[in-house]
Amino acid sequence: MIVCHCNGISDTDIKSAVDWMRASDPATLITAGKIYRALGKRADCGGCLPLFLDTMRGCDSFEVPMQLRGLRRAPTQVNAT
Ligand code: FES
Repeated sequence: MIVCHCNGISDTDIKSAVDWMRASDPATLITAGKIYRALGKRADCGGCLPLFLDTMRGCDSFEVPMQLRGLRRAPTQVNAT
């Protein structure tokens, strides 16, 4: 299924890029921008982003590494005390 019509990116392309990035660096944060760059493309109209993000999040290897979870909350808790 084509996800990005401007660049002809399919759901299979996205899943392959996510798997490749996770295999290359298990601690990396995977973003839509990184996937575009990995595929040698650039976002154009952005109309595909909701489906693009859903496809990314549906990949088995997409998970945020455990050591990087909850980082946003930590400074707030420190500032509250
Ligand atoms: S449909 Fe993906 S950038 Fe336009």
